[in-house]
Amino acid sequence: MHLPDYKEARTRDKRKYNRMNFLFDKDILNKYCGKKYFIKTYGCQMNEHDSENIGALLEKLGFISVDNYLDADLVLLNTCSIRENAHNKAFGMLGRLKHLKNEKKDLIIGICGCMAQEASVVSEILQDYKFVNFVLGTHNIYQLPNIIDKAIQENKQQIEVFSREGDLYENLPVIRSNSYKAYVNIIYGCDKFCTYCVVPYTRGRERSRKREDILAEIDKLILDGYKEVTLLGQNVNAYGKDLYDDYNLGNLLEDIAKKDIPRIRFMTSHPWDFTDEMINVIAKYSNIMPSIHLPVQSGSDRILRLMGRRYTRESYLKLFYKIKDTIPGVAISTDIIVGFPGETEEDFLDTLRLAEECQYDNAFTFIFSARDGTPASRIEDSVSIQEKEKRLYRLNDVVNHYFLENNKKLVGKTLKVLVEGISDKKNMYYGYSETNKLVNFDSDMDLQLGDIVEVSVTSAKTWSLDGKCKSSN
Ligand code: SAH
Ligand code: SF4
Ligand code: F3S
Repeated sequence: MHLPDYKEARTRDKRKYNRMNFLFDKDILNKYCGKKYFIKTYGCQMNEHDSENIGALLEKLGFISVDNYLDADLVLLNTCSIRENAHNKAFGMLGRLKHLKNEKKDLIIGICGCMAQEASVVSEILQDYKFVNFVLGTHNIYQLPNIIDKAIQENKQQIEVFSREGDLYENLPVIRSNSYKAYVNIIYGCDKFCTYCVVPYTRGRERSRKREDILAEIDKLILDGYKEVTLLGQNVNAYGKDLYDDYNLGNLLEDIAKKDIPRIRFMTSHPWDFTDEMINVIAKYSNIMPSIHLPVQSGSDRILRLMGRRYTRESYLKLFYKIKDTIPGVAISTDIIVGFPGETEEDFLDTLRLAEECQYDNAFTFIFSARDGTPASRIEDSVSIQEKEKRLYRLNDVVNHYFLENNKKLVGKTLKVLVEGISDKKNMYYGYSETNKLVNFDSDMDLQLGDIVEVSVTSAKTWSLDGKCKSSN
């Protein structure tokens, strides 16, 4: 049994770790043949991608996937700690599972993901959720098959959570949820320690994957017919710093762009180390998508300082305009937190004015949520939740207005769209443009899913575009 501890999770040093080649324990291959599993994933793309590895590990054990948790023999919650409501959703689901387990005594229930890294969550599970069979940390995914086997054989709760990152495992099996678009991890963890954020505690220190491992994974995806890769990391701009003296995200993007892959995306970029070299590489290669997620969090310098974001409103805007001016047709999206402890009306107005100025193509807006163990959770907060909700509405009014205005500018234009499916409701095709806009469109020709086609935009909505296919090539 390994229990999590934030004090340990917070430490950063140059401790060595090994790059290991994952090998599945042959003794348990297909041991649970025919059993059914259901994974519920909360949180970010990294968690979604972890679930793609977890699903594949379960299938090696012999499990098969089902769409309804009521039909499953094993239910795994891949959880997120980022905000209180993510927590509440997972605990709500645990409540439902408790009832289910009363009827189905052999049901195996597991918890993994970021909540598993929280000591308070694990102690609650030990105390009040004894029906949970196992808890597995974010650094322990490679142990999943053996932990499940142990939980079943010993019929005893298993808690395996390393507080700190262990070795980095390559070649975990994967079953991807999309046949054309793939996630590729390039860096794990985060060393930024924004004062409100749990990620540096739940995901450990920044560790880059070796470039040859990343490039080999992308070569395989190309062979398998993938059209788009999204390079993942909590802060992809830090890529390479822990491994190489002179190889960074700009170099990696360039090496990938030279390959025969039509679309490359990456997320998330912290404004702090977004270099000119990166901007130039993105501008130079047509297969690096002109779509940048650049979280600003706040437009107030005072709040940015309290958040520990390491940039000012002015330096953010300078970067914003450099990106806009250098990358033709670029769309910029962002994340914004309102109601950080002590945020005044004036601080909030700075954020509102920044949103007016940047006219983002997309924005994810959140009310600050105090997370246990983070410095911001200890700052005195005099702003009521009602006031915070009002600010969120006011901000959403502004950002939504610009989503629509930006989309309207595209009417009459031709966009390249990766065809992803046919929507049930309207019997239209749908897919995403290079700038990541959802496009619903008609076509006189039969289209293949995974094709990249030209679509002429006929009308604009706040969150999508309608159009008509012009050609397929
Ligand atoms: N690594 C990314 C962020 C990942 S978390 C980055 O730094 O850009 C995604 C978003 O969740 C953050 O950008 C932030 O806007 C929001 N977030 C993180 N912690 C939060 C908290 N405690 N309360 C509210 N929103 C939070
Ligand atoms: Fe959290 Fe900041 Fe790291 Fe993003 S950069 S994951 S917000 S600590
Ligand atoms: Fe949530 Fe963990 Fe991702 S806290 S946002 S699942 S890294």
